[in-house]
Amino acid sequence: MIYLDNNATTPLDPRVCDKMTWFLKEHFGNPSSLYPIGRDAKELVTEAREIIAAALGASRSEIIFTGSGTESDNFAIRGVFDAFPDKDELITSSIEHPAVIETAGYLEKKGVKVTYVPVDSAGRIDLSALRSALSPRTALISVMHANNEIGTIQPIGEISRIAKETGTLLHTDAVQSFGKIPVNVDELGVDLLTISAHKVYGPKGVGALYIRKGTRIQPLIFGGHQERQLRSGTENTAGIVGFGEAVRILGEQSKTDNIRIGKLAARLKQGIEASIPKAKFSGPEVDRVKSTLNYSILGLEAEAILLALATKDIYVSTGSACSEDSEEVSHVLSAIGMAPQFARSTLRISLGRFNTEEDVEIVLQELPEIVRKLREISSFDPDLD
Ligand SMILES: Cc1ncc(COP(=O)(O)O)c(C=O)c1O
Repeated sequence: MIYLDNNATTPLDPRVCDKMTWFLKEHFGNPSSLYPIGRDAKELVTEAREIIAAALGASRSEIIFTGSGTESDNFAIRGVFDAFPDKDELITSSIEHPAVIETAGYLEKKGVKVTYVPVDSAGRIDLSALRSALSPRTALISVMHANNEIGTIQPIGEISRIAKETGTLLHTDAVQSFGKIPVNVDELGVDLLTISAHKVYGPKGVGALYIRKGTRIQPLIFGGHQERQLRSGTENTAGIVGFGEAVRILGEQSKTDNIRIGKLAARLKQGIEASIPKAKFSGPEVDRVKSTLNYSILGLEAEAILLALATKDIYVSTGSACSEDSEEVSHVLSAIGMAPQFARSTLRISLGRFNTEEDVEIVLQELPEIVRKLREISSFDPDLD
């Protein structure tokens, strides 16, 4: 299998699997219990919290574990609005993940004024539009660090300087940047930051929200007072321990991994552009997470290419739909100005830790051939632009 959909999810690192298996066998205790098996479980959760906090340049009391990146995004945004009932404006970008866009939509229905700041053709946010949207009524700016479809890295540090002029809180969704580029809460100047375990070779169903000390926020989930009363519910202990192990491994090898993955992605990019006519690349050349490649293969439905690749055991995703069951064209591709017929031709290829040079060479043999054959039977117009 050649798995090139690492932005959707990453394979569980075998070391993470081993640690979780050991934990599940040896530590069933509830971390809230005061007797030894509870305390042991709590200690291991604390260890994971410390590893994750250190990786972000935070302190451990600033990390709240959640059930997903989606939950962390919801918690950050709704939690801040609940804590600031006197404020009724939200600023976000037009290319956020649905976890942010849909939460913004929910608040909009409740009367919050939401500004979706536009982006340029490479997906970079318009900072002057962001600045002019800012008002004393703005409770929060939420702008993603790196985009999941085209890899654009936003200037969060600059956005932070703008936010600080008015003392506005800043949240960033770092689900797609964490582990791929440096993510440090002080360097970015954020108050809230979302990460998710399954994008960094950890398990699904566990995320975290960094909340800078002193930030006013209300919980999303009430109950047994876990996670400093900010996220009740008995902890997903094995998931958290796995998340910690995944982040410990990032500390050990993400720098070398990312250099290697960057080279593989560059080879794939060069190969695609040399062998497939009318493959239109989207995203910036610089300030992009290098492992994300987004191509519109003009004249073809991306789904047809995806399915043909899958018959060869090669897995990529389309960039055309918000989610699998949606016929809608991606809001990210629309926001960068792509016409719908080109958006429907879009493939997202995302590389990761377990990809090899051989994977890339095989894709470069198979993909151009698939495209050639599909175009042959689809009366492809070579003048399409
Ligand atoms: C940018 C971004 N934010 C949030 C999420 C949601 O994370 P999770 O799958 O843990 O809910 C994703 C996952 O695709 C993502 O890419």
